[in-house]
Amino acid sequence: METRTIAVTGASGLIGTALCKSLRDDGCRVLELVRREVKDPEREVYWKPSAGEIDASRLEGVDGVVHLAGVNIADKRWTPEFKQKIVDSRVQGTELLAGAIAALADKPRVLVQASAIGYYGDRGDAVMTEESSAGDDFLAKTCVLWEASSKAAWEAGVRVAQLRIGVVMSPEGGALKELLPKFNLGGGATLGDGKQWMSWVALPDVVGALRFCLDNEGVHGAVNGAAPGAVTNREFTKTLAGVLSRPALLTLPKFAVRAMFGEMGDALLLSSTRVAPTRLEEAGYRFKHPELEPALRALLEK
Ligand SMILES: NC(=O)c1ccc[n+]([C@@H]2O[C@H](COP(=O)([O-])OP(=O)(O)OC[C@H]3O[C@@H](n4cnc5c(N)ncnc54)[C@H](OP(=O)(O)O)[C@@H]3O)[C@@H](O)[C@H]2O)c1
Repeated sequence: METRTIAVTGASGLIGTALCKSLRDDGCRVLELVRREVKDPEREVYWKPSAGEIDASRLEGVDGVVHLAGVNIADKRWTPEFKQKIVDSRVQGTELLAGAIAALADKPRVLVQASAIGYYGDRGDAVMTEESSAGDDFLAKTCVLWEASSKAAWEAGVRVAQLRIGVVMSPEGGALKELLPKFNLGGGATLGDGKQWMSWVALPDVVGALRFCLDNEGVHGAVNGAAPGAVTNREFTKTLAGVLSRPALLTLPKFAVRAMFGEMGDALLLSSTRVAPTRLEEAGYRFKHPELEPALRALLEK
């Protein structure tokens, strides 16, 4: 059987690490794009999006590219400088990569690009499908720019899929890793009025969805990457506390969330986005973890 080669950006991150392992376990050759000196040329390719540098020749003949790179939006408080970095690290990287792919003689068949459910913004109880319009807050505008910056690749005939990823659940990183110590101490709290929808997705399903997008010729454009069982923040708090057998009786009012986290608190913790994975399910993807409680039990079992 011919070995497929998949190039991955952001390979050292939460999703990238799990994706690269899954691909290698299945016999794929994975080329990680690294923003430092290459140590292992068999496995690594140099790029530096902030300097507009990429060793594009190493991408000749790869079968697919998965683009995950971008500064972590929850890394620090959203100062004007950090917000600019959130945008630049996504738009510059995507433009550089898409331009390099478009100029290859032997192009990959597909580019799967990370995006986020932040595309939809704060939308109350309304269910967001891929047909829904973009929101108008900072994250929504960022996602619009991020998705559009792969234009050169699709104009060059490469299939491009943009996975709008929900809040990734994994004890290894991201939101759940942050929350676990607090909940384990009985300090789990409902945020604001707790009515805001939280569209989560288990890490194995993010990997599954990225690989589904790589493999399925019919999948292109925006694809919602959140589990079918979205929950409100109140339900999430109750469910996580229940799985850990701890109380979660506290409430952190909106003003306190805003005082602690600034604009990021509004965007990531108080904003309501209820997303349906319409395209993935219609194309035949079956979620391993469609509902929250069994997902958390599976993710947290030792
Ligand atoms: N985790 C979530 O809940 C979630 C939800 C929605 C969307 N997403 C999106 O999915 C993608 C991957 O998420 P993740 O959770 O794996 O993120 P992550 O753990 O923060 O990893 C992102 C990776 O991007 C690269 N990176 C960091 N700073 C960068 C910069 N300034 N410029 C270019 N690249 C930089 C790094 O990889 P290298 O050092 O290897 O280059 C880093 O490991 C991100 O774009 C994220 O916005 C994640």
